[in-house]
Amino acid sequence: MKLPNIAIDGPAASGKTTVARLLARRLGLVFLDTGAMYRAVAWLALKNSADLSNDGALTDLAENCDMRIKPDDGELGYALELNGLDITARLHEPRIDQNVSAVAKVSGVRRNLVQRQQKMAENGGVIMVGRDITTVVMPEAEFRYYLDASVEERARRRYLELQQQGESITEAEVLEQLKERDYIDSHRSDSPLYLAEGVRRFDSTGKTIDEVVEGLSQECLQLLKGIG
Ligand code: DC
Repeated sequence: MKLPNIAIDGPAASGKTTVARLLARRLGLVFLDTGAMYRAVAWLALKNSADLSNDGALTDLAENCDMRIKPDDGELGYALELNGLDITARLHEPRIDQNVSAVAKVSGVRRNLVQRQQKMAENGGVIMVGRDITTVVMPEAEFRYYLDASVEERARRRYLELQQQGESITEAEVLEQLKERDYIDSHRSDSPLYLAEGVRRFDSTGKTIDEVVEGLSQECLQLLKGIG
């Protein structure tokens, strides 16, 4: 029996990654954060001092890297190895935040990462999170959600996270960066973020993560029971 797949999209800092990680634990499914894969290519591009406006160079990096994602008990729920090096702890540095949208809009990079993602989901049982999962990577997923929250609330959440990591940045700066990333992610020509027909929108503004996880897991459990 093939387990169902769950696809979750949403803007940066909407809580989708935390929600998906908890949901995966609760339902016994595999969690895959596709943003980490784009972040890994951005990390590699910065490490190699690649020209971020050179689509061909960025595509080459994506096509020729050895990327492995393994479940992990740590805070993120996974570890990412790139060319044999564990770079999990580097993926959320502010310099990656600032450059990853430029890498993620390159069609060659997307083509390669989407192929890898589809392969990981081919046997089912995966909760995948990103910007194009409900529309491009797994439009056939049994469950498709769009997790949203106001940009102000998202900036506040991201600011608190960065503060905990000891980064010196103001909330107003985080808000500006988020607005810029939202704009790039939803206006790029290849696979922009949007709420597609048939995808359920969940607004987490003013809700705790637990409330969102509870709501989604009830729905998913019903489906799993129906299939089992
Ligand atoms: O979810 P995140 O903030 O870690 O995503 C990092 C970047 O990658 C962000 O600019 C959006 C992009 N992304 C994408 O274009 N498609 C995905 N499936 C996942 C992330």
